[in-house]
Amino acid sequence: MYEHLLYEVADGIATISINNPKSLNALDPATIEEFGACIDEVAKDKAVKALIVTGAGPKSFVAGADISKMVLMSAEEGARFAALADGFFSKLEALPIVTIAAVNGYALGGGCELAMACDIRIASENAIFGQPEVGLGIIPGFGGTQRLARLIGKGRAKELILTTDRIDANEAYRIGLVNKVTSKEELIDTCKAMIGRVLKNGPFAVAVAKSCIESGMDMDLKNGLKLEADAFGLTFATEEKKEGMTAFLEKRKANFG
Ligand code: CAA
Repeated sequence: MYEHLLYEVADGIATISINNPKSLNALDPATIEEFGACIDEVAKDKAVKALIVTGAGPKSFVAGADISKMVLMSAEEGARFAALADGFFSKLEALPIVTIAAVNGYALGGGCELAMACDIRIASENAIFGQPEVGLGIIPGFGGTQRLARLIGKGRAKELILTTDRIDANEAYRIGLVNKVTSKEELIDTCKAMIGRVLKNGPFAVAVAKSCIESGMDMDLKNGLKLEADAFGLTFATEEKKEGMTAFLEKRKANFG
């Protein structure tokens, strides 16, 4: 049981909902600690094949790090807070299963950063994205200066971070910050439908492909391509490869179990 999160697993899909209704799901240190513990729980549970991260309530995904907790933090405490969140967000990013942020409202500051640590972002029409930190006299500290630039490019990342402009779901889609926009009612079903399209594939191959993309982004092209070639070879040693290719040649759907 968690105090700041709702957690459920159904049909192999885990859902973590950040649940701090009084602060529009702001992330305080206690919530971040619980989030880390919950990611560990997801990682250990072999029945979990995919993860959805969302916000409880109708209005907000996550409205950022908790300003009421940060206001009194010293420089050292601020750095520790960021390192704590970075560690857990990186763990989320490194999970071998597909992860989707179901962005159901405000995704500001740490909320936008949490969504970016997921593989895929699907937003409801009422979602609002932004990095308001410099307006608070700080900078994005849960990965925003790094992941946003990697995701949407340096120029657009600088525009969003330096202006603190808030953008709606359609603009977020236009610039590649989100993969899809849907109605509020259809948000979770849309996430589940996309998960279904991932889960029909070889789970080891999915995990290796994801890992190559993540690691390759931090390498030069030559080393990234070497990483990919080695990983490609690795997938040839699997039952999944045998099943996937045999199924194609036998003109049937692959069954990855
Ligand atoms: N931290 C703490 N409390 C927050 C919060 C946050 N990030 N966001 C909202 N709240 C609280 C509000 O203080 C308010 O509390 P009270 O009812 O006690 O007054 C409650 O949530 C409801 O918020 P509002 O009344 O402001 O609701 P609204 O609908 O008028 O506005 C909002 C919604 C636009 C999200 C607005 O609350 C807002 O601008 N929030 C702050 C967003 C922000 O700056 N986030 C970045 C934080 S810094 C960060 O995240 C650093 C990092 O990189 C990790």
